[in-house]
Amino acid sequence: MYILQIAFGTPAFDEAVQLRYEVLRRPLGLTYTEEQLAEEYDQVHLAAYSNHSVLIGYLNLTPQDVEVIKMRQVAVAPDCQGKGVGKELVKAAEDLASQSGYKKMVLHARETAVPFYKALEYNSVGAQFEEVGIPHFRMEKAL
Ligand SMILES: CC(C)(COP(=O)(O)OP(=O)(O)OC[C@H]1O[C@@H](n2cnc3c(N)ncnc32)[C@H](O)[C@@H]1OP(=O)(O)O)[C@@H](O)C(=O)NCCC(=O)NCCS
Repeated sequence: MYILQIAFGTPAFDEAVQLRYEVLRRPLGLTYTEEQLAEEYDQVHLAAYSNHSVLIGYLNLTPQDVEVIKMRQVAVAPDCQGKGVGKELVKAAEDLASQSGYKKMVLHARETAVPFYKALEYNSVGAQFEEVGIPHFRMEKAL
């Protein structure tokens, strides 16, 4: 597999939105609005591709301040989950953030994804809360 930074508004971005919809939104009966996607114009978008150049994973990064950056929308194609794709994507995001001078990665983890982030040395901070109608936990990791 390989990981690329893709640009907002390109065909690669549209393909990634479709993957995100299938993995993250459709199971919840939700969609992405034009407004929600428009807010992503200045975010960092990372996509993972198989050796046959098929999109298999995605995440995005949004700076919160000069030291903190937030990881969102981590999604791996269903038939590729549990094979290390998510781990490689998160590591690529951490490397990029660290090289750009950020000191801390933060995220909102779905309860079902907490073990995944714990395996990657993220710590849960604070109480459970609700987002997109399901339980989440704040998690973070020093870079
Ligand atoms: C959560 C998700 C991104 C993880 O990606 P993945 O490619 O399936 O995970 P990986 O195979 O890279 O797993 C990395 C590590 O986490 C562990 N892990 C992953 N899911 C786990 C789980 N549910 N419980 C326990 N450990 C888990 C793996 O065992 C592995 O540990 P190791 O490195 O010690 O072997 C992916 O499964 C997914 O897209 N799920 C649906 C959408 C979702 O929940 N996204 C997160 C939103 S916050």
